[in-house]
Amino acid sequence: MKKSTKVRFPSNIALVKYWGKHGNQLPMNASLSLTLQHAYTELELEAIEKNGADATFEYFFEGVQNDAFGQRVLTYLQNQPEFAEFLHQHTIKINSHNSFPHSTGIASSASAFAAIAAAFAKTSGITKNFSQEISRLARLGSGSACRSIYGPFASWGKLDGIDGTSDEYASPVQHIHPNFQDMQDAILIIEDTPKKVSSSVGHGLMKNHPFAEARFKQANQHCIEMFSTLERGDFERFIGIVEREALSLHAMMMTSEAYYLLIRPNTIEVMEKVMQFRQETQLPICFTLDAGPNIHLLYPSSIQDKVLLFIANELKPFTKNILYDRNGIGGIFL
Ligand code: DP6
Repeated sequence: MKKSTKVRFPSNIALVKYWGKHGNQLPMNASLSLTLQHAYTELELEAIEKNGADATFEYFFEGVQNDAFGQRVLTYLQNQPEFAEFLHQHTIKINSHNSFPHSTGIASSASAFAAIAAAFAKTSGITKNFSQEISRLARLGSGSACRSIYGPFASWGKLDGIDGTSDEYASPVQHIHPNFQDMQDAILIIEDTPKKVSSSVGHGLMKNHPFAEARFKQANQHCIEMFSTLERGDFERFIGIVEREALSLHAMMMTSEAYYLLIRPNTIEVMEKVMQFRQETQLPICFTLDAGPNIHLLYPSSIQDKVLLFIANELKPFTKNILYDRNGIGGIFL
């Protein structure tokens, strides 16, 4: 018998950054992200009962068999007891594609592992605590993937005094003021070449980092503040937390034992222009960075016209490409 499941799961951009992990993909600090809408992975899983035939596992990305990523996915699946029996009994073919171009700094492992975990959870018959289980299983593939299950905002990581938070899985942020219910994200691509240092290596460098303890404390504090900021609709505090987080993440990279620099001159040009524009106009716009040189500009839809003009007139010359996204609802089954 053939079973087929099709899913669409988005990427997300962290406002409070996960940077440092331990054990089996457990975070050293809590993180909180905005779920994207237009940047997603769509994935179809076809599983045919083996009936004595040899087990095969094929992973196609954008129509082409991708053995390197396929092997990473197979190893991940083999390591999950929830999927072991299902894997043993089926030959499997995965067809996946991304809605966004390669090497844009959009976290493709977040949307991919959210989609993989969801498709396998559904097809292998997991029903109990379904969303929570997908989030937990996605985390085991890539940490940030666990937040892509929910929108418009999700948090991951245990926080003292905040019920429902866990290191094992993410949960949706419950109380969102109307100010933050319609957020735009203009992704300014400064460099479109693959990153010099992978996130996994970056997480590893937090192990003996001289500022590690202070950084984990700062991130947890930022998460707690972000919950109340999102609830109260406070743009000023939002901007402060988001930009401080982005700079703190990159400061960690610049001050690790094997230090490295991912921001480029044009990253700095854009950040300075954003700060200047905000000071002049008093508009609620801010930047965040992923683990690369590219910038996510965050602002509410209510000021979109003004921001689009600003981007066209002042920022475009520093970019290679611009993708327009917004907050989304999380993953769906198609
Ligand atoms: C800077 O989730 O890609 O984007 O768990 O090793 O797959 P792994 O790391 P990953 O790290 C994301 C780092 C970040 C911050 C964040 O998304 O919170």
